Amino acid sequence: MDAKARIKKIAVLGAGLMGHGIAEVCAMAGYEVAMRDIKQEFLDKGMSMIKDSLVKMESKGKLKEPANTILGRIKPVLSLEEAVKDADLIIEAIPEIFDLKVQTFKECDRFAKRDCIFTSNTSTMSITELSKATERPDRFAGLHFFNPPVLMKLVEVIRGEKTSNEVMDLLVDFVKSIGKVPVRVEKDVPGFIANRVTAPSSVLLLGIIEKGVATPEEVDAKMKSMGQPMGPFELMDYVGIDTQYHILQYYEKTIGPDYKPPEFLEEMVKTGKLGAKSGKGWYDWSKGRPEIDLSKASEKINPMDFMFVEINEAVKLVEMGVATPQDIDTALKLGYNRPFGPFEIAKNLSDVEISARLEELAKFYGKKIFEPAKTLKEGKLSELLKKFGYE
Ligand code: 3HC
Repeated sequence: MDAKARIKKIAVLGAGLMGHGIAEVCAMAGYEVAMRDIKQEFLDKGMSMIKDSLVKMESKGKLKEPANTILGRIKPVLSLEEAVKDADLIIEAIPEIFDLKVQTFKECDRFAKRDCIFTSNTSTMSITELSKATERPDRFAGLHFFNPPVLMKLVEVIRGEKTSNEVMDLLVDFVKSIGKVPVRVEKDVPGFIANRVTAPSSVLLLGIIEKGVATPEEVDAKMKSMGQPMGPFELMDYVGIDTQYHILQYYEKTIGPDYKPPEFLEEMVKTGKLGAKSGKGWYDWSKGRPEIDLSKASEKINPMDFMFVEINEAVKLVEMGVATPQDIDTALKLGYNRPFGPFEIAKNLSDVEISARLEELAKFYGKKIFEPAKTLKEGKLSELLKKFGYE
């Protein structure tokens, strides 16, 4: 299905961290974009971030057209009706508050054309539940971008219970048309693929702080020295502490109590330590990205522990039929710019080794989510990998 023939105008709802980047990427690919937010100052900030980013890329010769031509395709608007009334595709990127999203989609349903496709950039929430706010659950799907959208290649295309095959195929083509790599998420589970696989490692990270095993900088220095582009606490700041907090609350409700956000995280949100966007989180961002002192890399941290909990979650996703191991590896590599996916690492390990360490972690941190998946417990990891063509 040819997305460029079917989609001309796009409404991006929200001009924040994700919304502005999504609008920018769509305009770069030639689409007309209405970017909507509820206050003029939010729109002004979003437009200025887009301009800065385009000018940066233009100065490096990375744009096919002048920055101003691309900028001219983005219209900042305050009225929801004006933004969506002639849109062929809506991409919602408003705060991660379920009721707010439901309310917004209800209004969109009133104003948008009948054949307009609705999508949500939610990090975690059920696409099926969100689609119920509308009369068009067959034309409703998830379109999950990664921060910063302009640089990150992955977009997860998530099927809700009623999403039609036609809409899934069209969105996959749309993602390709904006120069990104689509991964099909065939079952609507909390966190989808990339965020779900890393969910238990967020719990492990916060457990490390809670138990005083190491400091954020000691962890980040260790993980950066192992080849990750950002330390995990730096990344939490980059994504937003409030976003991370809302994500954990959602997992607590939908997956289980092990995901309950610790009190110190709630305190950070209450005191406005939201990470890069507020200038302070785990780090001070007032002068730009924090300098992480790699000499602080802590031997108290075993980087393999993060791999083990992620491999475990990835195996659970395959068991649930959410995605193939190949798509999970692609999602983790392109969603987080990592050199390897969990199955590419797992193929060099044994079930016994992974399971033994997972049991220890489950006990030490008191978290059932770290307990080994059925396939690992039964010693069937290599069988599973072989089935999917891993050598
Ligand atoms: N627009 C244009 N250019 C940008 C930019 C932007 N918004 N942001 C950064 N750049 C450019 C920089 O100017 C720099 O250009 P140069 O190499 O020509 O000087 C280049 O990108 C690299 O930037 P930096 O030197 O600042 O730093 P890095 O080499 O570390 O790259 C990064 C930046 C690509 C963000 C890298 O750190 C990275 O991959 N980090 C991990 C990001 C990640 O994991 N994102 C996923 C988060 S989870 C998520 O979004 C899901 C959600 O649901 C929560």
